[in-house]
Amino acid sequence: MTGPGEVKKAMKDERKRPGLAILNRVIKAFFRSQEWLSRNFDRIFPGKFRVDGHQDYRDNIVPPYLKAGQVIYDVGGGKCPYLNYESKRYYKAYVVGVDISEEELNKAPAGIYDKKVCADISCFAGENEADLVICQSLFEHVKDVEAAITSLSGILKPGGLALIFIPSRNALYARLNRLLPQELKNKILSLVYPKMRNMLGFPAYYDRCTPKELKRLAEKNNFSVMEEYYYYNSVYFYFLFPFYLFWRLWIVLFYIFSREQAAETFTLVLKKNS
Ligand SMILES: C[S@@+](CC[C@H](N)C(=O)[O-])C[C@H]1O[C@@H](n2cnc3c(N)ncnc32)[C@H](O)[C@@H]1O
Repeated sequence: MTGPGEVKKAMKDERKRPGLAILNRVIKAFFRSQEWLSRNFDRIFPGKFRVDGHQDYRDNIVPPYLKAGQVIYDVGGGKCPYLNYESKRYYKAYVVGVDISEEELNKAPAGIYDKKVCADISCFAGENEADLVICQSLFEHVKDVEAAITSLSGILKPGGLALIFIPSRNALYARLNRLLPQELKNKILSLVYPKMRNMLGFPAYYDRCTPKELKRLAEKNNFSVMEEYYYYNSVYFYFLFPFYLFWRLWIVLFYIFSREQAAETFTLVLKKNS
Protein backbone atom coordinates (compact mmCIF):
# COMPACT_ATOMS: atom_id res chain seq x y z
CA MET A 1 0.00 0.00 0.00
CA THR A 2 1.11 3.54 -0.63
CA GLY A 3 1.95 5.24 2.67
CA PRO A 4 0.95 8.85 3.52
CA GLY A 5 4.62 9.87 3.17
CA GLU A 6 4.76 8.56 -0.41
CA VAL A 7 1.47 10.28 -1.34
CA LYS A 8 2.74 13.62 0.05
CA LYS A 9 6.01 13.24 -1.86
CA ALA A 10 4.16 12.42 -5.11
CA MET A 11 1.93 15.51 -4.66
CA LYS A 12 4.98 17.70 -3.98
CA ASP A 13 6.71 16.33 -7.11
CA GLU A 14 3.57 16.98 -9.15
CA ARG A 15 3.41 20.62 -8.00
CA LYS A 16 7.10 21.08 -8.87
CA ARG A 17 6.86 19.52 -12.33
CA PRO A 18 3.28 19.67 -13.63
CA GLY A 19 4.35 18.54 -17.15
CA LEU A 20 5.81 15.33 -15.77
CA ALA A 21 2.70 14.67 -13.69
CA ILE A 22 0.46 15.00 -16.75
CA LEU A 23 2.72 12.66 -18.76
CA ASN A 24 2.62 10.15 -15.91
CA ARG A 25 -1.18 10.21 -15.88
CA VAL A 26 -1.42 9.88 -19.65
CA ILE A 27 0.93 6.83 -19.62
CA LYS A 28 -1.06 5.18 -16.82
CA ALA A 29 -4.37 5.87 -18.58
CA PHE A 30 -2.92 4.38 -21.78
CA PHE A 31 -1.88 1.17 -19.98
CA ARG A 32 -5.30 0.95 -18.32
CA SER A 33 -7.05 1.22 -21.68
CA GLN A 34 -4.79 -1.50 -23.14
CA GLU A 35 -5.51 -3.75 -20.18
CA TRP A 36 -9.25 -3.20 -20.66
CA LEU A 37 -8.92 -4.12 -24.33
CA SER A 38 -6.88 -7.27 -23.57
CA ARG A 39 -9.29 -8.42 -20.85
CA ASN A 40 -12.32 -7.97 -23.07
CA PHE A 41 -10.70 -9.63 -26.06
CA ASP A 42 -9.73 -12.58 -23.87
CA ARG A 43 -13.43 -13.37 -23.38
CA ILE A 44 -13.55 -15.02 -26.81
CA PHE A 45 -11.39 -17.88 -25.47
CA PRO A 46 -12.92 -20.93 -23.74
CA GLY A 47 -13.25 -20.66 -19.95
CA LYS A 48 -10.44 -23.21 -19.49
CA PHE A 49 -7.95 -20.61 -20.72
CA ARG A 50 -9.21 -17.86 -18.47
CA VAL A 51 -9.09 -19.32 -14.94
CA ASP A 52 -6.72 -17.51 -12.59
CA GLY A 53 -4.67 -20.33 -11.04
CA HIS A 54 -3.72 -18.54 -7.85
CA GLN A 55 -7.29 -17.50 -7.14
CA ASP A 56 -8.54 -21.03 -7.86
CA TYR A 57 -5.93 -22.37 -5.42
CA ARG A 58 -7.06 -19.99 -2.67
CA ASP A 59 -10.83 -20.16 -3.25
CA ASN A 60 -11.47 -23.71 -4.45
CA ILE A 61 -8.52 -26.06 -3.98
CA VAL A 62 -7.32 -25.43 -0.42
CA PRO A 63 -10.66 -25.01 1.48
CA PRO A 64 -11.87 -28.65 1.17
CA TYR A 65 -8.58 -29.81 2.75
CA LEU A 66 -8.96 -27.65 5.88
CA LYS A 67 -10.14 -29.65 8.89
CA ALA A 68 -10.47 -28.77 12.57
CA GLY A 69 -7.38 -29.02 14.76
CA GLN A 70 -4.76 -29.41 12.02
CA VAL A 71 -1.09 -28.52 12.27
CA ILE A 72 -0.56 -26.41 9.16
CA TYR A 73 2.83 -25.30 7.84
CA ASP A 74 2.66 -22.25 5.55
CA VAL A 75 5.99 -22.50 3.75
CA GLY A 76 7.04 -19.25 2.07
CA GLY A 77 3.94 -17.63 3.59
CA GLY A 78 5.95 -14.55 4.62
CA LYS A 79 3.75 -11.51 5.06
CA CYS A 80 0.81 -13.12 3.21
CA PRO A 81 -0.13 -16.34 5.05
CA TYR A 82 -2.95 -18.34 3.51
CA LEU A 83 -5.21 -18.34 6.57
CA ASN A 84 -6.60 -15.15 8.00
CA TYR A 85 -7.30 -14.70 11.68
CA GLU A 86 -10.99 -15.69 11.43
CA SER A 87 -10.37 -18.91 9.49
CA LYS A 88 -7.45 -19.87 11.74
CA ARG A 89 -9.74 -19.53 14.79
CA TYR A 90 -12.62 -21.27 13.06
CA TYR A 91 -10.46 -24.33 12.25
CA LYS A 92 -8.55 -24.16 15.56
CA ALA A 93 -5.43 -24.57 13.44
CA TYR A 94 -1.88 -24.48 14.76
CA VAL A 95 -0.03 -22.52 12.09
CA VAL A 96 3.72 -22.57 11.59
CA GLY A 97 5.20 -20.01 9.18
CA VAL A 98 8.48 -21.03 7.55
CA ASP A 99 10.18 -18.34 5.48
CA ILE A 100 13.72 -17.43 4.52
CA SER A 101 13.08 -13.84 5.56
CA GLU A 102 12.44 -12.88 9.16
CA GLU A 103 11.35 -9.45 7.96
CA GLU A 104 8.61 -10.99 5.78
CA LEU A 105 7.42 -13.21 8.64
CA ASN A 106 7.23 -10.22 10.95
CA LYS A 107 5.09 -8.27 8.47
CA ALA A 108 2.34 -10.95 8.61
CA PRO A 109 -0.88 -9.91 10.37
CA ALA A 110 -0.56 -10.42 14.13
CA GLY A 111 -1.81 -13.69 15.60
CA ILE A 112 -1.75 -15.85 12.46
CA TYR A 113 1.50 -17.71 13.02
CA ASP A 114 1.71 -19.70 16.26
CA LYS A 115 5.36 -20.27 15.49
CA LYS A 116 7.69 -18.49 13.09
CA VAL A 117 10.68 -20.30 11.64
CA CYS A 118 13.20 -18.31 9.67
CA ALA A 119 14.84 -20.89 7.40
CA ASP A 120 15.65 -21.73 3.82
CA ILE A 121 13.24 -24.53 2.92
CA SER A 122 15.93 -26.29 0.91
CA CYS A 123 17.86 -27.05 4.11
CA PHE A 124 15.13 -27.34 6.71
CA ALA A 125 14.81 -30.44 8.88
CA GLY A 126 11.16 -31.00 9.75
CA GLU A 127 9.68 -33.16 12.49
CA ASN A 128 7.02 -35.14 10.60
CA GLU A 129 4.30 -33.27 12.48
CA ALA A 130 2.19 -31.40 9.91
CA ASP A 131 -1.20 -32.49 8.59
CA LEU A 132 -1.05 -29.95 5.79
CA VAL A 133 1.58 -27.89 4.02
CA ILE A 134 0.45 -24.77 2.20
CA CYS A 135 2.96 -23.60 -0.35
CA GLN A 136 1.97 -20.82 -2.74
CA SER A 137 4.29 -18.95 -5.11
CA LEU A 138 7.40 -20.21 -3.34
CA PHE A 139 9.19 -22.77 -5.51
CA GLU A 140 10.06 -20.33 -8.27
CA HIS A 141 12.20 -18.47 -5.69
CA VAL A 142 14.03 -21.53 -4.39
CA LYS A 143 17.46 -22.36 -5.83
CA ASP A 144 17.28 -26.10 -5.11
CA VAL A 145 13.72 -27.34 -5.51
CA GLU A 146 14.58 -31.02 -5.09
CA ALA A 147 16.01 -30.27 -1.63
CA ALA A 148 12.88 -28.23 -0.85
CA ILE A 149 10.61 -31.16 -1.74
CA THR A 150 12.67 -33.43 0.51
CA SER A 151 12.15 -30.89 3.32
CA LEU A 152 8.38 -30.80 2.72
CA SER A 153 8.36 -34.56 3.13
CA GLY A 154 10.24 -34.17 6.44
CA ILE A 155 7.67 -31.63 7.69
CA LEU A 156 4.61 -33.82 7.00
CA LYS A 157 3.19 -36.76 8.93
CA PRO A 158 2.80 -39.94 6.87
CA GLY A 159 -0.44 -39.44 4.91
CA GLY A 160 -0.12 -35.63 5.23
CA LEU A 161 -0.77 -33.40 2.23
CA ALA A 162 1.22 -30.69 0.48
CA LEU A 163 -0.81 -28.23 -1.61
CA ILE A 164 1.63 -26.55 -3.97
CA PHE A 165 0.83 -23.67 -6.30
CA ILE A 166 3.62 -22.83 -8.77
CA PRO A 167 4.20 -20.50 -11.69
CA SER A 168 5.70 -22.63 -14.48
CA ARG A 169 9.22 -22.21 -15.80
CA ASN A 170 7.78 -22.78 -19.30
CA ALA A 171 5.66 -19.62 -19.20
CA LEU A 172 6.76 -16.71 -21.34
CA TYR A 173 6.85 -14.33 -18.35
CA ALA A 174 9.06 -16.82 -16.46
CA ARG A 175 11.51 -16.90 -19.37
CA LEU A 176 11.62 -13.08 -19.37
CA ASN A 177 11.83 -13.04 -15.60
CA ARG A 178 15.04 -15.05 -15.78
CA LEU A 179 16.52 -12.85 -18.48
CA LEU A 180 15.81 -9.32 -17.21
CA PRO A 181 17.75 -7.69 -14.37
CA GLN A 182 15.78 -7.52 -11.10
CA GLU A 183 15.78 -3.71 -10.94
CA LEU A 184 14.39 -3.33 -14.45
CA LYS A 185 11.66 -5.89 -13.72
CA ASN A 186 10.69 -4.05 -10.53
CA LYS A 187 10.47 -0.75 -12.42
CA ILE A 188 8.35 -2.16 -15.24
CA LEU A 189 5.99 -4.00 -12.90
CA SER A 190 5.50 -1.10 -10.53
CA LEU A 191 4.73 1.18 -13.50
CA VAL A 192 2.24 -1.08 -15.25
CA TYR A 193 0.94 -3.12 -12.30
CA PRO A 194 1.37 -1.05 -9.11
CA LYS A 195 -0.85 -3.56 -7.25
CA MET A 196 1.89 -6.19 -7.65
CA ARG A 197 4.26 -4.15 -5.50
CA ASN A 198 3.87 -6.76 -2.73
CA MET A 199 5.26 -9.52 -4.94
CA LEU A 200 8.35 -7.62 -6.06
CA GLY A 201 11.84 -8.06 -4.75
CA PHE A 202 12.09 -11.85 -4.56
CA PRO A 203 14.61 -13.21 -7.07
CA ALA A 204 13.19 -16.03 -9.19
CA TYR A 205 15.09 -19.11 -10.47
CA TYR A 206 12.29 -21.48 -11.56
CA ASP A 207 14.52 -24.47 -10.79
CA ARG A 208 12.61 -27.62 -11.99
CA CYS A 209 9.36 -25.62 -11.97
CA THR A 210 7.59 -27.54 -14.74
CA PRO A 211 4.71 -29.99 -14.26
CA LYS A 212 6.76 -32.90 -15.56
CA GLU A 213 9.84 -32.23 -13.38
CA LEU A 214 7.87 -31.44 -10.25
CA LYS A 215 5.83 -34.64 -10.46
CA ARG A 216 8.97 -36.67 -11.07
CA LEU A 217 10.70 -35.13 -8.04
CA ALA A 218 7.63 -35.60 -5.87
CA GLU A 219 7.38 -39.30 -6.71
CA LYS A 220 11.12 -39.72 -6.13
CA ASN A 221 10.72 -38.14 -2.67
CA ASN A 222 8.04 -40.40 -1.20
CA PHE A 223 4.97 -38.49 -2.42
CA SER A 224 2.01 -39.62 -4.52
CA VAL A 225 0.44 -37.08 -6.84
CA MET A 226 -3.24 -37.01 -5.81
CA GLU A 227 -4.50 -34.15 -7.96
CA GLU A 228 -3.14 -31.80 -10.58
CA TYR A 229 -4.60 -28.57 -11.96
CA TYR A 230 -3.30 -26.55 -14.91
CA TYR A 231 -3.96 -22.92 -15.81
CA TYR A 232 -3.36 -21.04 -19.03
CA ASN A 233 -3.83 -17.53 -17.82
CA SER A 234 -1.75 -14.69 -16.38
CA VAL A 235 -2.01 -10.95 -16.67
CA TYR A 236 1.60 -9.92 -17.27
CA PHE A 237 1.12 -9.02 -20.94
CA TYR A 238 -2.30 -7.38 -20.69
CA PHE A 239 -0.77 -3.92 -20.37
CA LEU A 240 -0.03 -3.71 -24.13
CA PHE A 241 -2.59 -5.24 -26.47
CA PRO A 242 -0.07 -6.41 -29.17
CA PHE A 243 2.00 -8.15 -26.44
CA TYR A 244 -1.14 -9.74 -25.06
CA LEU A 245 -2.16 -10.98 -28.53
CA PHE A 246 1.25 -12.51 -29.20
CA TRP A 247 1.26 -14.16 -25.77
CA ARG A 248 -2.28 -15.55 -26.18
CA LEU A 249 -1.53 -17.06 -29.59
CA TRP A 250 1.65 -18.57 -28.20
CA ILE A 251 -0.24 -20.22 -25.32
CA VAL A 252 -2.90 -21.67 -27.59
CA LEU A 253 -0.30 -23.12 -30.00
CA PHE A 254 1.89 -24.38 -27.16
CA TYR A 255 -1.18 -26.03 -25.60
CA ILE A 256 -2.12 -27.75 -28.86
CA PHE A 257 1.32 -29.35 -29.06
CA SER A 258 2.29 -29.86 -25.39
CA ARG A 259 -0.94 -29.82 -23.34
CA GLU A 260 -0.20 -29.19 -19.64
CA GLN A 261 3.47 -28.37 -20.26
CA ALA A 262 2.08 -25.11 -21.72
CA ALA A 263 0.45 -24.14 -18.40
CA GLU A 264 1.37 -20.74 -17.01
CA THR A 265 0.75 -21.89 -13.46
CA PHE A 266 -0.22 -25.18 -11.86
CA THR A 267 -1.18 -26.79 -8.58
CA LEU A 268 -0.19 -30.23 -7.31
CA VAL A 269 -1.80 -31.97 -4.38
CA LEU A 270 0.82 -34.36 -3.00
CA LYS A 271 0.32 -37.05 -0.36
CA LYS A 272 3.23 -38.26 1.71
CA ASN A 273 3.35 -42.04 1.52
CA SER A 274 3.29 -44.01 4.76
C1 LIG B 1 6.25 -14.29 -3.77
S1 LIG B 1 6.31 -14.45 -2.03
C2 LIG B 1 4.86 -15.43 -1.77
C3 LIG B 1 4.20 -15.13 -0.45
C4 LIG B 1 2.88 -15.89 -0.20
N1 LIG B 1 3.10 -17.33 -0.13
C5 LIG B 1 1.86 -15.55 -1.26
O1 LIG B 1 1.50 -16.42 -2.06
O2 LIG B 1 1.39 -14.41 -1.29
C6 LIG B 1 7.62 -15.63 -1.79
C7 LIG B 1 7.94 -15.89 -0.34
O3 LIG B 1 8.85 -16.98 -0.28
C8 LIG B 1 9.91 -16.67 0.62
N2 LIG B 1 11.09 -17.46 0.20
C9 LIG B 1 11.87 -17.26 -0.88
N3 LIG B 1 12.83 -18.19 -0.95
C10 LIG B 1 12.64 -19.02 0.12
C11 LIG B 1 13.32 -20.18 0.61
N4 LIG B 1 14.39 -20.68 -0.03
N5 LIG B 1 12.87 -20.76 1.74
C12 LIG B 1 11.79 -20.27 2.40
N6 LIG B 1 11.10 -19.16 1.98
C13 LIG B 1 11.53 -18.55 0.86
C14 LIG B 1 10.06 -15.16 0.48
O4 LIG B 1 10.73 -14.59 1.58
C15 LIG B 1 8.60 -14.72 0.36
O5 LIG B 1 8.01 -14.52 1.60
